[in-house]
Amino acid sequence: MDPQGSGHEPEAAPPRSTHPRVLAVAVQKGGTGKTTLAASLAVAAAEAGERVTALDLDPQGSLAGWGATRETDTVAIDRLQPWEIGQLPEILDILAQQGTTLVVLDTAGSSSGLAPALKDADFVLMPVRPSRLDIVAARPTLQALMTLGLRGRFALVLNQCPPPPSPRTSAYAAQLRALGVLAEPGIIHRVDHQDALATGLGVTEYAPTSPAAEEIRALWAWIDAKMRASRSDDQP
Ligand SMILES: Nc1ncnc2c1ncn2[C@@H]1O[C@H](COP(=O)(O)OP(=O)(O)O)[C@@H](O)[C@H]1O
Ligand SMILES: [Mg+2]
Repeated sequence: MDPQGSGHEPEAAPPRSTHPRVLAVAVQKGGTGKTTLAASLAVAAAEAGERVTALDLDPQGSLAGWGATRETDTVAIDRLQPWEIGQLPEILDILAQQGTTLVVLDTAGSSSGLAPALKDADFVLMPVRPSRLDIVAARPTLQALMTLGLRGRFALVLNQCPPPPSPRTSAYAAQLRALGVLAEPGIIHRVDHQDALATGLGVTEYAPTSPAAEEIRALWAWIDAKMRASRSDDQP
């Protein structure tokens, strides 16, 4: 992280409520769409009025690479090295002072830095493809979230879904919905997502009127409402 213009350390840590909201995109499996969704959700949240910083916690640096190709600064993008992840609370203080209202964390999922990232998240979005292998692979992250006491603060989103009707996808959705851990809507496999990321854009910038953009806006609205509900649960 390069906290440009961040000034000095605060004299006293502000209370947690002054932190930006933190959305982590995390699951213990590669290729499920964490970076794709983190990037487009960050852009969609900025379009909805948030001041967004996206932090790349994955040593592969895909999100940071996407950020480097962006020509606008509507989303601030930075990269945390593995040894900096433990400093996330202090980094959130700095970002709060700089006016960030939402931090989106893109993670490697299986790295040793996962637990601290999840510990500091208000909500964890876990992208999985509608396949048994992906859903089974998500279990360790689910267990980690339970251990961290984050029940009610995470959800799986089905990503790269085949176009409907897909009885298999509907069956997985029904199972996860019944468990209360399904984020909606599911995201269909569409090349707009790939083309957007390849050109340094969120899908709502790349193809604003496309079904892909509509799904991402709706998913951000769902997450936003969940995060607000869980924050109000925290109020005394
Ligand atoms: N909804 C989607 N539609 C089409 N392609 C997608 C979608 N989500 C992800 N992809 C593609 O799947 C691959 C893995 O996505 P990525 O975001 O890099 O996953 P992760 O960060 O979990 O490793 C990439 O090639 C990406 O373009
Ligand atoms: Mg990734």
